[in-house]
Amino acid sequence: MTEIRLPEMGLVVLVGVSGSGKSHFARRHFTPTQVVSSDRCRAMVSDDENDQSATGDAFELLHHIVRTRLRRGLLTVVDATNVQTGPRQQLLRIARECDVMSAAIVLDVPEAVATARNAARPDRDLPDHVVPRQRRELRRGLRSLQSREFKRSYVLNGVEEIDAATVVYEKAW
Ligand code: GTP
Ligand code: MG
Repeated sequence: MTEIRLPEMGLVVLVGVSGSGKSHFARRHFTPTQVVSSDRCRAMVSDDENDQSATGDAFELLHHIVRTRLRRGLLTVVDATNVQTGPRQQLLRIARECDVMSAAIVLDVPEAVATARNAARPDRDLPDHVVPRQRRELRRGLRSLQSREFKRSYVLNGVEEIDAATVVYEKAW
C-alpha cells in the first residue's frame, strides 16, 4: 500500500490521462475547496467543461486561483491531466514564487481502463487518439517528473494501487 506523504501546505499536482481517475481520487482524498480543476475552470469561463477554445482562459483562471491559495497558505491540489512538461513547469513556477513545497501524484492506469471508462462517460466524447497521445506524453516526461521537477512524487500503478493509496500529512517535509 502506498502512503502518500504530503506537506500540510503546498502544491499537489495530479497527473494522469483522461479517465485515469484524477477527479475521483481528488474527491476521495481532499476537500472540495482544496481541489482546483481545469474542467471546472473551463466551465466557469465558458459554461461548457468541454469547450477547448476556452482552455487558455481556463488555465489563466486556474493559475490565478492556485497562486492566490498558495500565497494564503492553503494546501492546493490541481486536477488537470498535467501529462505534459510545460503545464507542470507553469505550476512549479507558481509554487516557487510562493515559496512552497510541491508534490506530484501520478495515476497510471492501463490504456484499456481509461478508454473503457471514458466511453461510459456522458460528459466526455474524446477522439480515439487522445488517450494514447496523453500516455506517450506521460511516458516521455515521467523520469524528469520523478527526478527533477517535484520535491516528491508518487506513481500509482494500476487500479488496485490507486484504490489502496492513503494520504498522510507531515509537518516537516
Ligand atoms: P479527465 O477529467 O477526463 O482528465 O479524467 P479523470 O482522470 O478526472 O477521470 P475521472 O476521475 O473523472 O474518472 C473517469 C471515470 O472513471 C468516472 O466515471 C469515474 O467514476 C470512474 N473511476 C475513476 N476512478 C475510479 C476507480 O478507482 N474505480 C472505479 N470503479 N471507477 C473509477
Ligand atoms: Mg477529471
